This record gives sequence, C-alpha cells and structure tokens, in this order.
Amino acid sequence: MESTPQFVGRSLYDLDDYSSDEIMYILEAAKGMKEINLREYKKIPTLRGKTVCTLFVEDSTRTRMSFELAASRLSADVVSFQATVSSLKKGESLQDTVNTLNAMGIDLYCIRHSSPGSPQLVHKYSGKPVINGGDGRHAHPTQALLDIFSIWERLGNLKGLKITIVGDILNSRVVRSDLIGMTKLGMEVTVCGPRTLMPANMEQIYGCKVEYDLAEALKDADIVMGLRMQLERMTEGLFPSLEEYSRHYVLSKETIKYAKKDALIMHPGPMNRGIEILPEIADSAQSIIVEQVANGVAVRMALMFLILGGKL
Ligand code: CP
Repeated sequence: MESTPQFVGRSLYDLDDYSSDEIMYILEAAKGMKEINLREYKKIPTLRGKTVCTLFVEDSTRTRMSFELAASRLSADVVSFQATVSSLKKGESLQDTVNTLNAMGIDLYCIRHSSPGSPQLVHKYSGKPVINGGDGRHAHPTQALLDIFSIWERLGNLKGLKITIVGDILNSRVVRSDLIGMTKLGMEVTVCGPRTLMPANMEQIYGCKVEYDLAEALKDADIVMGLRMQLERMTEGLFPSLEEYSRHYVLSKETIKYAKKDALIMHPGPMNRGIEILPEIADSAQSIIVEQVANGVAVRMALMFLILGGKL
C-alpha cells in the first residue's frame, strides 16, 4: 500500500471536499490498517520521524484517543494538547498557540474545537495539513468515515442501503458529515426527530428524507443510528423534557421492530442511555457500536498514512 499524491499534504475539513472515489480509497486503506490492528504486534514504522499533534479544545474520549493511537501505531511521535491545562487558559490566542506548537515541528494537526471553521484557521496559521475532529455543530468527517466503513465492512456494499438517523439533528455535526458521505456513496438516508430539533430544508440541502414519526422513519431501514441529545449545545427549551423526547424517539426493542429484522444498530457515542437508546438495544447482538470505536482507529490510521505520504 502506498499513499497517492492527491492525498499528500491535504486537509480534511469535511467530506464535501472528497469525491466518492477518494472516500472509497480511504475505506480500502482503512481495511489494510484494520488488519494491522488485529496483529499481536500492532505497530508499523511507516511514519517514523513525523509528528502529529492532537489539538483538542473541546472534550472527547474516543476521537482524541483514537487519533493518538492511530499515530502511535504508524510510529509517528504524538503530542497531545489539552486546553484545560494549557496557556489558552491564561488568555493565549489560538494563533499564538499554533505558532508555538508549529515551532516544535508538527507535521499534522488533528483538531477539535467548539467554533466551526477552526480547522481552516489552524491550517492558515500553521501551513500544515489539518484533520477536523469535530468543529462546533458543523462537521465531524472522521466519525462519518468510520460510520461508513463500519456499514461497508458489515454489509459488503453501500449503494441503495437505507439508514435512518434518529435524534437531535439540529445540533449534530455527525449527522451533517454522515449525510454528505452516505448520500455521495448512494445510500438512502432518512433523518428523524422532533420538529424543533430538525433544521429547515434538509431534503433540498442533503437529498435525504425527513420524518417526524419514528415508526414511519424506521420502515425498511437496514441500519438505524441513534444520536446523542446534545444537552450542552441547547440554549432554548426545544422540547418539554427528556422523558417527553424519550417517549417518542427512544430506540428500544419495542420501536426497533419497525426496521428490518437484524438491522444494524449504530451510535457515534457518547450515549445517553435511557434517553435516546435503551441498553437492551445498545448492547444487543444487532449493535455495532463497539465496532465503530475500533474502526475509528483504522480509519484515522488510513487518513494519517495517506496525508503524510506513508509507504508500506
Ligand atoms: N463520537 C465522538 O466524537 O466521541 P467523543 O466526543 O468521545 O470523541
């Protein structure tokens, strides 16, 4: 396996910058990386001498750790910037922070920030490629890639598959990136949630279906994805209570029966168990939620390998 010039030095802000062929190339590379992850000795020397910085200015468990594991498995050096114990707390600007990190010889930044467009700013300040690990409500392209990879790996194809994504569509950066990637690859996406958590014109913007009734939305779904209620991003009372939300939209044994038998169950995590999904479904044989996390390492390895010009 070898990186190709079209990926080297390129940032990933969202999937709209990548063609369907390029997305499939990343997924194929991730398949190779997954094989490495399954070995007893999981490390290869391809990015020895490169330095990856995870610049996380917003909380994360799986995205930050899987970026760091991905870089380590490819033998890159990893520096982990954590906002809560950094000089950002003393008022240092993002620009000065990036200038400081850049002076230490960073080759690739993986960033999470609450402000949309921060990844582009980091690229502007550093001149280095940047992978977006989630910017505000805007985008989370590596989550979308790992979601698509997980479906492709399990079901063997993507075109024509029906996925229903349920929950807080308004505040979700995951759903926006998923919609771009999944529709590009020929999947049929239905989004479902309360009207107050549904942005306007979703059909026209993303080419998806919009449903407000869960049973109707789940009809014939091959895959069902729950989304986290983003309580930290809700500034207005958009529905009466979490109990009220749950009564109409929770993924449970009772509601999931409207989807195809054995439909895959997904969730990007972290989950609010008991609100958007019940344990009986999250931990069921149909659930690939843990697999999604494992696949995240392989997908991020593939991206780093391609962007930093790796060779095997
Ligand atoms: N799915 C996801 O982005 O999880 P974290 O917030 O834990 O990184």
